[in-house]
Amino acid sequence: MRKILITGATGNIGREVIHSLSELNMDAQIVAAVRNVERAEIEFSEYPNLSFQQFDFEDSKSFESAFEQIDTLFLLRPPHISQVEKYFQPLLLSAKENGIEEIVFLSVQGVEKSSIIPHNKIEALIRRNGFKYIFVRPGYFMQNLTTTLLSEIRESRTITLPSGHAKFNWIDVRNIGEATALLIKSFTKYQNAGYDITGTENKDFYQVTHLISKVIGTEIHFNSVDPINFYFKKRNEGVPKGFALVMAMLHFLPRFQKEPEISDNFEKLTGKCPTRLVDFIEREKKNMTLP
Ligand SMILES: NC(=O)c1ccc[n+]([C@@H]2O[C@H](COP(=O)([O-])OP(=O)(O)OC[C@H]3O[C@@H](n4cnc5c(N)ncnc54)[C@H](OP(=O)(O)O)[C@@H]3O)[C@@H](O)[C@H]2O)c1
Repeated sequence: MRKILITGATGNIGREVIHSLSELNMDAQIVAAVRNVERAEIEFSEYPNLSFQQFDFEDSKSFESAFEQIDTLFLLRPPHISQVEKYFQPLLLSAKENGIEEIVFLSVQGVEKSSIIPHNKIEALIRRNGFKYIFVRPGYFMQNLTTTLLSEIRESRTITLPSGHAKFNWIDVRNIGEATALLIKSFTKYQNAGYDITGTENKDFYQVTHLISKVIGTEIHFNSVDPINFYFKKRNEGVPKGFALVMAMLHFLPRFQKEPEISDNFEKLTGKCPTRLVDFIEREKKNMTLP
């Protein structure tokens, strides 16, 4: 039976990929690669057919047992890991040595335009190491509003980012999970290519805070700052260096780039329209409303 290993299983994307794969009822064993198996077994108790494997990106000794007998590896880069050569080269080497041939990598839309972002380097490493691959390149997660940006929304009714009037393409992580599961299922059909997975709306943070304010009935402000101030603000909040730097770049660089292209890959893969931002905010209204 085909065995598929899911890294980042407990995160935004991994959780949705597992959910969507389980809905597809494939003849395959899905394995969640997690740091803490006991905790994951409880978190995923509604998935009786899911199995678990201890795995740590930062502990190369965990690679071999995790990669044994795996056919397809769903790989993502945890946000705090920015040293690509240090962590991903040994990981890919081990994957190769253990006979993995297929990698589905969660990249980012626009990766081709920026050689300094870690995803660009990871895509290059995957190609260089001779894997069959699929690069899933999503737009900007709607769920950033309910994760990394949430405490500021709730506590200060503000979003602070170095993004000015830059427009982002807004995509629901559930949609990324649905598309990724289908790409994994039919790997051979889609292999050796990258797929932008986007929503249908490009909006800047002035427009998005306006929309949130309208839906939740509380005024939310957007505060655009320069990237250096932003970096130090994040560091003061305890965000690790690499993560703060990538966050600054990913929100600052789009100011100098063309706005994202809207792709129909999601619709082609799933036959559905992607979630609209207004519906996402409505869905998450309770969560975003001040306590
Ligand atoms: N946010 C966006 O708008 C956006 C857009 C496009 C692409 N992306 C990319 O999406 C990726 C992040 O995905 P996400 O939002 O799903 O991340 P996330 O919610 O932060 O989850 C990270 C996952 O990685 C796991 N993890 C962290 N460190 C680990 C380690 N040392 N060993 C094993 N597992 C570890 C975490 O497990 P634990 O439960 O053990 O912590 C968790 O399951 C990043 O590469 C980001 O650049 C983001």
